[in-house]
Amino acid sequence: MNFKEELIKNQEYVNNILKEYIDTLELPEKKLNDAMRYSLLAGGKRIRPILIINTYKLFRDDIEKCIPYFVAMEMVHNFSLIHDDLPAIDNDDIRHGIPTNHKAFGESTAILAGDGLLNYAYMVISEDIASKYDNCKIQVLNEFSKEVYNMIKGEFIDIESENKDIPIELLEYMHKNKTGALIKESVRIGAILAKANEKDLSLLTKYAENIGLAFQIKDDILSEIGDEKIMGKPVHNDIRENKSTFVTKYGIEKSQEILRDIIKEAIQLILNEFGEKAEFLIELAKYIKDREK
Ligand code: IPE
Ligand code: IPE
Ligand code: MG
Ligand code: MG
Repeated sequence: MNFKEELIKNQEYVNNILKEYIDTLELPEKKLNDAMRYSLLAGGKRIRPILIINTYKLFRDDIEKCIPYFVAMEMVHNFSLIHDDLPAIDNDDIRHGIPTNHKAFGESTAILAGDGLLNYAYMVISEDIASKYDNCKIQVLNEFSKEVYNMIKGEFIDIESENKDIPIELLEYMHKNKTGALIKESVRIGAILAKANEKDLSLLTKYAENIGLAFQIKDDILSEIGDEKIMGKPVHNDIRENKSTFVTKYGIEKSQEILRDIIKEAIQLILNEFGEKAEFLIELAKYIKDREK
């Protein structure tokens, strides 16, 4: 056997599959995706995937079964490299012969691209498991990992939207992701674990999307008119950082009106379906609207 030739073949095989896994869609968070892709495809030795494949080959030939696992491993490895090179850690400028992620994309993007790759690994593995087993807990794991990624991309849009006047669609997309994703998924996890039927699940998902968006609109409002002592965090910090928020877009009055409407809709939805049983979730929706911290 010519080891060097075999190694190169192995590396090419891994590289082609990695390319397939890191999509290049034109999304609002395209730059985040580009940053993840930049590091993942920058040209490491692929030692870890090659170890997975060749250990598997001691026993079996169907190496495609390993794909999600070696992809995930290389993603986590590259997450570790992106963060390792950051100024707060090793402060390095060059990796794989090209500028490190934060040198090419800026520090905030590099941090989130690292987080993204770390989480993507769990998405890829849980996707593989969920496609093979029909089990609500596996579904939860898969959804959970996707929503964590949505939170990361929402945070990315938040950073990218500083000092800009962004369209309302993008503002909503940002809020639904950075804050809404985990709130929505929390409701869904409760419903899925309880084996709720499809109709109830989609109704509760809508409720959850509304309270998730409402939660962040209220957060925008509190950042403007809240009481620092009650909140335990600074007011006017959004203005200071020139953030894009519902308040900068619509002003306080209109934001409060939007907030009331979204909460009202959320309450109607579950009141109609669950009646008194939903009392706590109804009160919780009101609490999100009226909270002072
Ligand atoms: C570098 O790992 C980081 C360490 C854990 C020492 P590798 O040398 O495997 O990195 P690449 O991916 O091949 O560059
Ligand atoms: C990197 O170690 C280890 C991880 C990223 C987990 P080093 O900091 O020593 O590796 P290089 O020299 O930057 O690749
Ligand atoms: Mg180090
Ligand atoms: Mg280092």
